Amino acid sequence: MTRLFNIIEAQQFSPEVMAEIFAVAREMEQVVQHYGSNILNRRIMATLFYEPSTRTRLSFESAMRRLGGEVLTTESAQEFSSAAKGETLEDTIRVIAGYADVVVLRHFEGGASERASAVADVPIINAGDGAGQHPTQALLDMYTIEREIGRLSDISVAMVGDLANGRTVRSLCYLLSKYQGNKVYFVAPEIVRMKEDIKSYLSGHGICHEEVDNLYDVAPEVDVIYQTRIQRERFDNVADYEAARGKYVIDRKLLDCLSAEAVVMHPLPRVDEIDAAAVDDDPRAAYFRQAHNGLYVRMALLKMLLAG
Ligand code: NCD
Repeated sequence: MTRLFNIIEAQQFSPEVMAEIFAVAREMEQVVQHYGSNILNRRIMATLFYEPSTRTRLSFESAMRRLGGEVLTTESAQEFSSAAKGETLEDTIRVIAGYADVVVLRHFEGGASERASAVADVPIINAGDGAGQHPTQALLDMYTIEREIGRLSDISVAMVGDLANGRTVRSLCYLLSKYQGNKVYFVAPEIVRMKEDIKSYLSGHGICHEEVDNLYDVAPEVDVIYQTRIQRERFDNVADYEAARGKYVIDRKLLDCLSAEAVVMHPLPRVDEIDAAAVDDDPRAAYFRQAHNGLYVRMALLKMLLAG
């Protein structure tokens, strides 16, 4: 088994390592059915979250417990940890690294996990760093694509919504670029278009990408619609937010344009960008299965970081 250390950015994963993670995640589906295992007996994971989270923090904590490990947790770390007293991230990490065998960090600044890993002697897992990356989300997204569509190459994905502030789409682009024949359509309101660094990375890796204004132009040909929330908290003023929201909504009309085999994904939380009443019961709505897959993928990651 490949031993993982820090999980900082999506680019670090090769297709071989991803295949291994996904194979372990499949085993974890069985482990959960049999009420867990004890392979991480007495290992301790600390979750240090400076930004809100439901799925990421709780799925990591559930993953650790399902494998027999223990959890130390600080939510709202900005308010309730010593950051409120002016402690630097580096100092906080140095101390927590002495209490835990792995630290899962969510922070509001891009590059925070990288900084943390420079001072920690235990693995750091990036659970979202500002508008930077969210590599474990991208891994569970790829796992979901493989489970739903049956392959990871020759996939056509429309990424929709807040592509400037969304870290999940950025990490997902890096992972899609590891496989042949993938194509990405960026469908975003003008003020939140995908940033140049990702577009040039995709071009440099031979991945076709195109900015599209009308989602209906590409809906019939895509395998995956990856819808995202307009990230209100990252806007400087309400007017810009109001201009961006509501432009692209997945509803019955859009579903009717998708192929029967396509899936609708979303990292969640959603606000108003999916018409829940019209879409949730459609078999192509994959977002709750996707969130559920997060547990298995995070169990696999913890096993590959800590077991043995
Ligand atoms: C996302 C995040 O925090 O980046 N949520 C998640 O982890 N599933 C997306 C979001 O906040 O909109």
